[in-house]
Order: sequence, then structure tokens, then C-alpha cells
Amino acid sequence: MAVVLLTSATGAPGVTTTALGLALTWPRHVLLADCDRDPAQAVQAGYLRGLEHGGRGLVSLAHLHREGAPLGPEVWRQTIPLADSDGPERRLLPGFTSAGSSRLFEHVWGAVGEAFAGLDERGIDVIVDAGRIGPAGLPFGLLTATNAVVVCVRSSLRSLASAQIHVPTLTDQLRALPTALPAALAVIGPGRPYAAGEIAAQFQLPCWLESAWDPKSAEVLSDGAPEPRRFREQAFMGKLRTSAKSLSERLAREREQIAAVTEVAS
Ligand SMILES: Nc1ncnc2c1ncn2[C@@H]1O[C@H](COP(=O)(O)OP(=O)(O)OP(=O)(O)O)[C@@H](O)[C@H]1O
Ligand SMILES: [Mg+2]
Repeated sequence: MAVVLLTSATGAPGVTTTALGLALTWPRHVLLADCDRDPAQAVQAGYLRGLEHGGRGLVSLAHLHREGAPLGPEVWRQTIPLADSDGPERRLLPGFTSAGSSRLFEHVWGAVGEAFAGLDERGIDVIVDAGRIGPAGLPFGLLTATNAVVVCVRSSLRSLASAQIHVPTLTDQLRALPTALPAALAVIGPGRPYAAGEIAAQFQLPCWLESAWDPKSAEVLSDGAPEPRRFREQAFMGKLRTSAKSLSERLAREREQIAAVTEVAS
């Protein structure tokens, strides 16, 4: 039903960990797309503990695009399983595999974004790990296919100072889009020391998501640390599950509102 993009300013606040946690608890079929232009293969090397992607991922999509193939039917084929599940399917689109490859991708983002949006028809939502905003902002092709942008910050002055520098680049980009795109914050470890409400007021952005400060649990997702017994039922994943549900419902509501406004206008 939606494409949601997670990003950050600097300082590794936990975009990949949060995006993965949401993908593992999302209430519907979901694709986690590693679109970080600074490649790290973080999910394969971390949570999936070195799983081979067998050549699948963004780079193969770029090759297919160059050969003139439409990416819509290809994107799901380029994914690998994130979790065994008898419920919703959860898959990963592996990201870039070499340092310079994202530079060759500028003309491909639009087609990739459209392919993500097209998964909607098959009941699949997409969570994009877009990495850091960067000096030039996020790829427009991705933003135009996105239904909402969530900026991850920690609650420390250091994290907030860097967000203060980089978030305006993103908000300028959002203003330049043909249709308004909701933006919000995810606070990773609220209350260390600033509360989510204080941070939201400072940035004049709503806080849609809070991730509890829990380095040991986070390591299971970010680094593939051994999973404690009943990890999925414990507080860390429980909170992510609640956030995933409310985020998915929020996106559905926002889209209904936009559809209603478009209908009235036409
Ligand atoms: N809720 C949390 N509580 C404690 N530690 C966390 C939490 N979320 C993430 N971390 C930790 O923060 C570190 C960075 O996480 P992660 O790789 O997800 O950040 P990132 O924002 O994707 O970084 P980068 O910009 O380099 O891609 C990891 O060690 C991870 O375990
Ligand atoms: Mg990351």
C-alpha cells in the first residue's frame, strides 16, 4: 500500500536497524530495499550473517534497465528472503556492491522508484533504507515514488546538531516535488537526554516512531548477534511491531486522504 523511506543526517543513528526491525514486524508483505548510496551490505553481513546475494539486487536492476527491460516485473525477482515466515512475505533487495556504483545510478532511480510503487498492486509495501541525506540530497527518482519520509535521529545534542544541518536539504527537496510528501522523525533512544516531543517541536516535524534504547537487542539486528530466547516477543521487537502497525495504518490513512483530495480536484 505504500513506499516509506528512512534516512538520516550523519552519525549512524540507526536507520538500517530500524528499517530492518520494521520489515521484520510489518503487518503486510514487505520489501526492505537497501538504497544506501554509501554501500555497506549491512543487512547481509549483519543480520543475515554473510548470506550470499547470488548477484541479485540494485546492480542487477541497473543492468536490466540498461538492456531496456521494464523493472516492474523484475524487482521482486532481485530480492532474497529476510525471514522464514508463514505470514507476510519479507524480502530484501540487496544494495550496491562497490564504492562507485551509486554514481552510475542517477538515471536509474526513477525506474526503480516506479517499480517499488508498482509492488502496491501486489499488496507489497516497500521500506527504503536510503542511508544519509548527503550534501546533494536524496535521489529525486526515489522521492517521487515515496509516500512518506522518516528522518532517524538520536536524542543527543550531537545527533540533533547534525540533523539541523542536513534536514533543510531534504525539506527543500520535498518542497520542489510536484505533490506534497509527508515527512516525520523517528527518534532512536528518546530521552537521552531530549524527549521525542521536544525534538519534534524543535524541527517542526511530527515524531512518528520511537525506538527504545537497547544496544544489546539492536545488535541482533545490526550485527547478527545471537538471538536471545523469545527475542521476537520481548520489548524491543514488541515496540517495533507496534510502530510498524501504526506506521502502516498511518500511511494507508494519508493515502486515502490524498486520493479523496485528488478526486475532489478532478
Ligand atoms: N534502538 C537502538 N538502541 C541502541 N542501539 C541502537 C539502536 N538502533 C541502532 N542501534 C545501534 O546503532 C549502531 C548503528 O546502527 P545502524 O547501522 O542501523 O545505523 P545507520 O543509521 O544505518 O548507519 P549508517 O548511516 O552508517 O548506514 C549499531 O551499532 C546499532 O546496533
Ligand atoms: Mg545504514
